[in-house]
Amino acid sequence: MTFSRIAATGSHLPDRAVTNQELATRVDTTDEWIVSRSGISQRYLANDAERTSDLALAAARKALTTAGWAPDDLDLIVVATTTPDMTFPSTACIVQAGLGVTNGCAAFDVQAVCSGFIYAFATADAMIRSGMVKKALVIGAETLSRIIDWNDRGTCVLFGDGAGCVLLEAATEPGVIGCHLHADGRHMPILKAPGVLEAGQVRGNPFIEMDGQAVFKFAVEALAATAQETLAAHGMSGEDVDWMVPHQANIRIIQSTAKRLKIPMERVVTTVAQHGNTSAASIPLALDVAVRDGRIRRGQTVLMEGIGAGFAWGSALVRY
Ligand SMILES: CC(C)(COP(=O)(O)OP(=O)(O)OC[C@H]1O[C@@H](n2cnc3c(N)ncnc32)[C@H](O)[C@@H]1OP(=O)(O)O)[C@@H](O)C(=O)NCCC(=O)NCCS
Repeated sequence: MTFSRIAATGSHLPDRAVTNQELATRVDTTDEWIVSRSGISQRYLANDAERTSDLALAAARKALTTAGWAPDDLDLIVVATTTPDMTFPSTACIVQAGLGVTNGCAAFDVQAVCSGFIYAFATADAMIRSGMVKKALVIGAETLSRIIDWNDRGTCVLFGDGAGCVLLEAATEPGVIGCHLHADGRHMPILKAPGVLEAGQVRGNPFIEMDGQAVFKFAVEALAATAQETLAAHGMSGEDVDWMVPHQANIRIIQSTAKRLKIPMERVVTTVAQHGNTSAASIPLALDVAVRDGRIRRGQTVLMEGIGAGFAWGSALVRY
Protein backbone atom coordinates (compact mmCIF):
# COMPACT_ATOMS: atom_id res chain seq x y z
CA MET A 1 0.00 0.00 0.00
CA THR A 2 1.25 3.50 -0.85
CA PHE A 3 1.03 6.47 1.49
CA SER A 4 2.45 9.98 1.34
CA ARG A 5 4.80 11.73 3.74
CA ILE A 6 6.11 15.28 4.13
CA ALA A 7 9.68 15.37 2.82
CA ALA A 8 10.31 19.07 3.56
CA THR A 9 8.63 22.42 4.22
CA GLY A 10 9.33 25.98 3.08
CA SER A 11 7.93 29.47 3.48
CA HIS A 12 8.46 33.06 2.45
CA LEU A 13 7.23 36.45 3.64
CA PRO A 14 7.52 39.82 1.89
CA ASP A 15 10.11 42.19 3.38
CA ARG A 16 7.70 44.86 4.58
CA ALA A 17 6.16 44.37 8.03
CA VAL A 18 3.24 46.71 8.77
CA THR A 19 2.46 47.19 12.45
CA ASN A 20 -0.91 47.93 14.01
CA GLN A 21 0.42 51.37 14.91
CA GLU A 22 1.11 52.08 11.24
CA LEU A 23 -2.42 50.96 10.27
CA ALA A 24 -3.83 53.22 12.98
CA THR A 25 -2.42 56.19 11.06
CA ARG A 26 -4.56 55.22 8.04
CA VAL A 27 -7.89 54.00 9.54
CA ASP A 28 -9.76 54.65 12.79
CA THR A 29 -8.35 51.81 14.91
CA THR A 30 -5.89 51.13 17.72
CA ASP A 31 -3.22 48.54 18.46
CA GLU A 32 -5.19 47.63 21.61
CA TRP A 33 -8.41 46.97 19.61
CA ILE A 34 -6.69 44.80 17.00
CA VAL A 35 -4.64 42.77 19.50
CA SER A 36 -7.55 42.19 21.89
CA ARG A 37 -10.01 41.20 19.11
CA SER A 38 -7.68 39.15 16.89
CA GLY A 39 -4.23 38.64 18.49
CA ILE A 40 -2.60 40.29 15.46
CA SER A 41 0.28 42.73 16.02
CA GLN A 42 1.65 43.02 12.51
CA ARG A 43 1.36 41.57 9.02
CA TYR A 44 3.68 41.44 5.98
CA LEU A 45 2.60 43.11 2.74
CA ALA A 46 3.93 42.48 -0.77
CA ASN A 47 5.36 45.42 -2.68
CA ASP A 48 3.74 46.60 -5.93
CA ALA A 49 5.98 44.41 -8.09
CA GLU A 50 5.61 41.19 -6.03
CA ARG A 51 3.09 38.66 -7.35
CA THR A 52 1.68 35.61 -5.59
CA SER A 53 3.92 33.40 -7.75
CA ASP A 54 7.03 35.28 -6.52
CA LEU A 55 6.20 34.45 -2.91
CA ALA A 56 5.30 30.87 -3.88
CA LEU A 57 8.55 30.42 -5.79
CA ALA A 58 10.70 31.63 -2.90
CA ALA A 59 8.95 29.21 -0.51
CA ALA A 60 9.24 26.34 -3.01
CA ARG A 61 12.97 26.90 -3.55
CA LYS A 62 13.60 26.67 0.22
CA ALA A 63 11.70 23.38 0.47
CA LEU A 64 13.45 21.88 -2.59
CA THR A 65 16.85 22.86 -1.15
CA THR A 66 15.95 21.33 2.22
CA ALA A 67 14.83 18.06 0.60
CA GLY A 68 17.72 18.01 -1.89
CA TRP A 69 15.26 17.61 -4.77
CA ALA A 70 15.79 19.01 -8.26
CA PRO A 71 12.81 20.87 -9.81
CA ASP A 72 12.49 18.11 -12.44
CA ASP A 73 11.99 15.52 -9.67
CA LEU A 74 8.44 16.91 -9.25
CA ASP A 75 5.44 15.03 -10.71
CA LEU A 76 2.86 17.54 -9.49
CA ILE A 77 2.57 21.20 -8.45
CA VAL A 78 -0.59 22.39 -6.71
CA VAL A 79 -0.98 26.02 -5.66
CA ALA A 80 -3.80 26.99 -3.31
CA THR A 81 -4.57 30.67 -3.80
CA THR A 82 -7.41 33.17 -3.90
CA THR A 83 -5.14 35.83 -5.36
CA PRO A 84 -3.65 34.29 -8.52
CA ASP A 85 -1.21 36.35 -10.61
CA MET A 86 -3.77 36.58 -13.40
CA THR A 87 -7.07 35.08 -14.57
CA PHE A 88 -5.08 32.45 -16.42
CA PRO A 89 -2.76 30.59 -16.70
CA SER A 90 -2.80 29.10 -13.22
CA THR A 91 -0.27 30.32 -10.68
CA ALA A 92 0.94 26.70 -10.49
CA CYS A 93 2.01 26.85 -14.16
CA ILE A 94 3.79 30.17 -13.52
CA VAL A 95 5.58 28.59 -10.54
CA GLN A 96 6.47 25.55 -12.65
CA ALA A 97 8.15 27.75 -15.26
CA GLY A 98 9.85 29.85 -12.56
CA LEU A 99 11.36 26.76 -10.97
CA GLY A 100 12.68 25.67 -14.36
CA VAL A 101 10.67 22.43 -14.46
CA THR A 102 10.80 21.01 -17.98
CA ASN A 103 9.49 17.48 -17.41
CA GLY A 104 5.86 18.37 -18.20
CA CYS A 105 4.57 17.53 -14.70
CA ALA A 106 0.94 18.30 -13.79
CA ALA A 107 0.30 21.78 -12.37
CA PHE A 108 -2.98 23.37 -11.28
CA ASP A 109 -4.50 25.79 -8.77
CA VAL A 110 -6.98 25.05 -6.01
CA GLN A 111 -9.45 27.74 -4.95
CA ALA A 112 -10.87 27.09 -1.50
CA VAL A 113 -9.89 30.44 0.04
CA CYS A 114 -8.47 30.08 3.57
CA SER A 115 -9.00 26.29 3.56
CA GLY A 116 -7.16 26.06 0.23
CA PHE A 117 -3.99 24.52 1.62
CA ILE A 118 -5.89 21.68 3.32
CA TYR A 119 -7.80 21.05 0.06
CA ALA A 120 -4.56 21.09 -1.99
CA PHE A 121 -2.77 18.89 0.55
CA ALA A 122 -5.60 16.31 0.59
CA THR A 123 -5.70 16.30 -3.23
CA ALA A 124 -1.95 15.71 -3.56
CA ASP A 125 -2.07 13.02 -0.86
CA ALA A 126 -4.88 11.22 -2.73
CA MET A 127 -3.00 11.44 -6.04
CA ILE A 128 0.13 9.96 -4.43
CA ARG A 129 -1.83 7.18 -2.70
CA SER A 130 -3.54 6.31 -6.00
CA GLY A 131 -0.12 5.84 -7.63
CA MET A 132 -0.69 8.68 -10.11
CA VAL A 133 2.29 10.74 -8.88
CA LYS A 134 5.24 10.18 -6.55
CA LYS A 135 6.57 13.61 -5.69
CA ALA A 136 4.36 16.68 -5.20
CA LEU A 137 4.89 20.33 -4.33
CA VAL A 138 1.88 21.74 -2.45
CA ILE A 139 1.86 25.51 -1.94
CA GLY A 140 -0.44 27.98 -0.21
CA ALA A 141 0.36 31.52 -1.43
CA GLU A 142 -1.46 34.83 -1.27
CA THR A 143 -1.17 38.53 -1.97
CA LEU A 144 -4.42 39.14 -0.17
CA SER A 145 -3.52 42.81 0.30
CA ARG A 146 -4.62 43.30 -3.35
CA ILE A 147 -8.27 42.47 -2.55
CA ILE A 148 -8.53 44.41 0.71
CA ASP A 149 -10.24 47.77 1.01
CA TRP A 150 -7.60 49.67 2.99
CA ASN A 151 -10.30 52.10 4.16
CA ASP A 152 -12.40 49.31 5.76
CA ARG A 153 -11.14 48.96 9.34
CA GLY A 154 -13.34 45.88 9.84
CA THR A 155 -11.25 43.81 7.42
CA CYS A 156 -7.94 45.55 6.61
CA VAL A 157 -6.44 44.95 10.05
CA LEU A 158 -6.82 41.17 9.79
CA PHE A 159 -5.05 40.04 6.62
CA GLY A 160 -1.50 39.72 5.27
CA ASP A 161 0.58 38.27 2.42
CA GLY A 162 2.91 35.25 2.35
CA ALA A 163 3.54 31.73 1.12
CA GLY A 164 4.21 28.31 2.60
CA CYS A 165 4.62 24.89 1.08
CA VAL A 166 5.32 21.21 1.66
CA LEU A 167 6.93 18.56 -0.49
CA LEU A 168 4.97 15.31 -0.36
CA GLU A 169 6.45 12.00 -1.51
CA ALA A 170 5.29 8.39 -1.80
CA ALA A 171 6.09 6.29 1.28
CA THR A 172 5.47 2.76 2.50
CA GLU A 173 3.84 4.00 5.72
CA PRO A 174 2.04 7.22 6.75
CA GLY A 175 3.04 10.13 6.67
CA VAL A 176 -0.36 11.53 6.05
CA ILE A 177 -2.73 9.58 8.31
CA GLY A 178 -5.99 11.07 7.04
CA CYS A 179 -7.72 14.15 5.62
CA HIS A 180 -11.34 15.30 5.79
CA LEU A 181 -12.85 18.05 3.60
CA HIS A 182 -16.20 19.84 3.81
CA ALA A 183 -18.05 22.75 2.24
CA ASP A 184 -21.45 24.40 2.61
CA GLY A 185 -22.15 27.07 0.01
CA ARG A 186 -25.25 28.27 1.86
CA HIS A 187 -22.90 30.33 4.06
CA MET A 188 -21.51 32.21 1.06
CA PRO A 189 -22.98 35.63 2.06
CA ILE A 190 -20.98 36.06 5.30
CA LEU A 191 -17.53 36.20 3.62
CA LYS A 192 -16.93 37.09 0.00
CA ALA A 193 -15.09 39.23 -2.56
CA PRO A 194 -17.92 39.42 -5.09
CA GLY A 195 -16.37 41.51 -7.87
CA VAL A 196 -15.68 39.90 -11.27
CA LEU A 197 -14.12 40.97 -14.54
CA GLU A 198 -16.80 41.37 -17.18
CA ALA A 199 -16.50 42.99 -20.60
CA GLY A 200 -13.20 44.54 -19.57
CA GLN A 201 -14.63 46.10 -16.37
CA VAL A 202 -14.79 45.06 -12.72
CA ARG A 203 -18.45 44.34 -11.91
CA GLY A 204 -19.32 44.31 -8.18
CA ASN A 205 -17.14 45.06 -5.16
CA PRO A 206 -13.65 43.59 -5.73
CA PHE A 207 -12.77 43.81 -2.02
CA ILE A 208 -13.37 41.41 0.86
CA GLU A 209 -16.78 41.80 2.56
CA MET A 210 -17.23 40.06 5.89
CA ASP A 211 -19.76 39.61 8.70
CA GLY A 212 -17.05 39.12 11.33
CA GLN A 213 -19.23 37.80 14.13
CA ALA A 214 -21.03 35.27 11.92
CA VAL A 215 -17.70 34.04 10.54
CA PHE A 216 -16.30 33.74 14.05
CA LYS A 217 -19.23 31.62 15.29
CA PHE A 218 -19.22 29.34 12.25
CA ALA A 219 -15.43 28.86 12.31
CA VAL A 220 -15.28 27.82 15.95
CA GLU A 221 -17.94 25.10 15.48
CA ALA A 222 -16.74 23.78 12.13
CA LEU A 223 -13.03 23.64 12.99
CA ALA A 224 -13.55 21.69 16.20
CA ALA A 225 -15.97 19.31 14.42
CA THR A 226 -13.63 18.50 11.53
CA ALA A 227 -10.61 18.09 13.80
CA GLN A 228 -12.60 15.73 16.04
CA GLU A 229 -13.83 13.82 12.99
CA THR A 230 -10.29 13.26 11.67
CA LEU A 231 -8.96 12.24 15.09
CA ALA A 232 -11.89 9.88 15.73
CA ALA A 233 -11.49 8.25 12.29
CA HIS A 234 -8.06 7.09 13.44
CA GLY A 235 -8.94 6.24 17.04
CA MET A 236 -7.19 9.31 18.42
CA SER A 237 -8.08 12.26 20.63
CA GLY A 238 -6.52 15.66 21.27
CA GLU A 239 -4.20 14.02 23.82
CA ASP A 240 -2.51 12.04 21.02
CA VAL A 241 -1.62 15.21 19.10
CA ASP A 242 1.90 16.58 19.61
CA TRP A 243 1.20 19.78 17.65
CA MET A 244 -1.89 21.49 16.31
CA VAL A 245 -1.14 23.80 13.35
CA PRO A 246 -4.41 25.68 12.76
CA HIS A 247 -5.38 28.25 10.17
CA GLN A 248 -4.13 31.55 11.59
CA ALA A 249 -7.22 33.79 11.38
CA ASN A 250 -7.73 34.93 14.94
CA ILE A 251 -6.10 33.88 18.24
CA ARG A 252 -9.53 33.63 19.90
CA ILE A 253 -10.76 31.14 17.27
CA ILE A 254 -7.54 29.13 17.73
CA GLN A 255 -7.84 29.14 21.54
CA SER A 256 -11.48 28.11 21.40
CA THR A 257 -10.78 25.21 19.00
CA ALA A 258 -7.81 24.03 21.08
CA LYS A 259 -9.94 24.11 24.23
CA ARG A 260 -12.69 22.01 22.64
CA LEU A 261 -10.09 19.47 21.51
CA LYS A 262 -8.40 19.54 24.94
CA ILE A 263 -5.08 20.51 23.37
CA PRO A 264 -3.14 22.96 25.62
CA MET A 265 -1.95 26.13 23.90
CA GLU A 266 1.67 25.07 24.55
CA ARG A 267 1.10 22.43 21.84
CA VAL A 268 -0.49 24.84 19.35
CA VAL A 269 1.65 26.63 16.76
CA THR A 270 0.54 30.26 16.45
CA THR A 271 1.97 32.81 14.04
CA VAL A 272 -1.13 35.00 13.77
CA ALA A 273 0.49 37.73 15.91
CA GLN A 274 3.33 38.21 13.42
CA HIS A 275 1.72 37.17 10.09
CA GLY A 276 -1.97 38.08 10.41
CA ASN A 277 -4.36 35.96 8.33
CA THR A 278 -2.50 34.95 5.16
CA SER A 279 -5.43 32.81 3.93
CA ALA A 280 -4.22 29.69 2.04
CA ALA A 281 -0.63 30.40 3.11
CA SER A 282 -1.23 30.47 6.85
CA ILE A 283 -1.05 26.75 7.70
CA PRO A 284 2.09 25.85 5.69
CA LEU A 285 3.74 29.09 6.88
CA ALA A 286 3.11 28.16 10.52
CA LEU A 287 4.17 24.56 9.87
CA ASP A 288 7.47 25.68 8.35
CA VAL A 289 8.17 28.08 11.22
CA ALA A 290 7.71 25.30 13.80
CA VAL A 291 9.70 22.74 11.78
CA ARG A 292 12.62 25.12 11.28
CA ASP A 293 12.73 26.30 14.91
CA GLY A 294 12.87 22.65 16.01
CA ARG A 295 9.48 22.39 17.74
CA ILE A 296 7.98 19.91 15.26
CA ARG A 297 10.24 16.85 15.00
CA ARG A 298 10.18 13.68 12.89
CA GLY A 299 7.75 11.06 14.21
CA GLN A 300 5.48 13.58 15.93
CA THR A 301 1.74 13.75 15.27
CA VAL A 302 0.54 17.01 13.75
CA LEU A 303 -3.08 18.09 13.32
CA MET A 304 -3.74 20.79 10.72
CA GLU A 305 -7.15 22.41 10.28
CA GLY A 306 -8.43 25.28 8.15
CA ILE A 307 -11.59 27.13 7.21
CA GLY A 308 -12.48 29.84 4.75
CA ALA A 309 -15.10 31.46 2.60
CA GLY A 310 -17.46 29.19 0.76
CA PHE A 311 -17.74 28.08 3.46
CA ALA A 312 -15.11 25.39 3.00
CA TRP A 313 -13.16 23.68 5.75
CA GLY A 314 -11.13 20.58 6.52
CA SER A 315 -8.42 18.90 8.54
CA ALA A 316 -5.37 16.72 8.00
CA LEU A 317 -3.64 14.43 10.48
CA VAL A 318 0.03 13.73 9.81
CA ARG A 319 2.91 11.83 11.33
CA TYR A 320 5.68 14.27 10.47
C1 LIG B 1 -13.65 40.84 12.92
C2 LIG B 1 -13.57 40.63 14.40
C3 LIG B 1 -12.12 40.78 14.89
C4 LIG B 1 -14.43 41.72 15.08
O1 LIG B 1 -14.43 41.52 16.47
P1 LIG B 1 -15.81 41.65 17.27
O2 LIG B 1 -15.49 41.49 18.70
O3 LIG B 1 -16.76 40.66 16.65
O4 LIG B 1 -16.20 43.12 16.98
P2 LIG B 1 -17.55 43.67 16.33
O5 LIG B 1 -17.69 43.22 14.92
O6 LIG B 1 -18.65 43.34 17.29
O7 LIG B 1 -17.29 45.21 16.34
C5 LIG B 1 -17.30 45.91 17.54
C6 LIG B 1 -17.11 47.37 17.23
O8 LIG B 1 -15.75 47.59 16.79
C7 LIG B 1 -15.76 48.37 15.60
N1 LIG B 1 -14.59 48.00 14.80
C8 LIG B 1 -14.52 47.14 13.76
N2 LIG B 1 -13.26 47.09 13.30
C9 LIG B 1 -12.53 47.92 14.09
C10 LIG B 1 -11.17 48.26 14.13
N3 LIG B 1 -10.27 47.75 13.28
N4 LIG B 1 -10.78 49.14 15.09
C11 LIG B 1 -11.62 49.64 15.97
N5 LIG B 1 -12.94 49.36 15.98
C12 LIG B 1 -13.37 48.49 15.05
C13 LIG B 1 -17.05 48.01 14.91
O9 LIG B 1 -17.43 49.04 14.04
C14 LIG B 1 -17.98 47.89 16.10
O10 LIG B 1 -18.39 49.18 16.47
P3 LIG B 1 -19.91 49.48 16.86
O11 LIG B 1 -20.22 48.58 18.02
O12 LIG B 1 -19.89 50.94 17.19
O13 LIG B 1 -20.69 49.15 15.62
C15 LIG B 1 -14.10 39.25 14.81
O14 LIG B 1 -15.49 39.17 14.60
C16 LIG B 1 -13.45 38.15 14.01
O15 LIG B 1 -12.26 37.90 14.13
N6 LIG B 1 -14.23 37.40 13.20
C17 LIG B 1 -13.67 36.35 12.36
C18 LIG B 1 -12.99 36.94 11.17
C19 LIG B 1 -12.16 35.94 10.42
O16 LIG B 1 -11.48 35.15 11.02
N7 LIG B 1 -12.21 36.00 9.10
C20 LIG B 1 -11.45 35.14 8.24
C21 LIG B 1 -11.97 33.75 8.28
S1 LIG B 1 -11.01 32.72 7.31
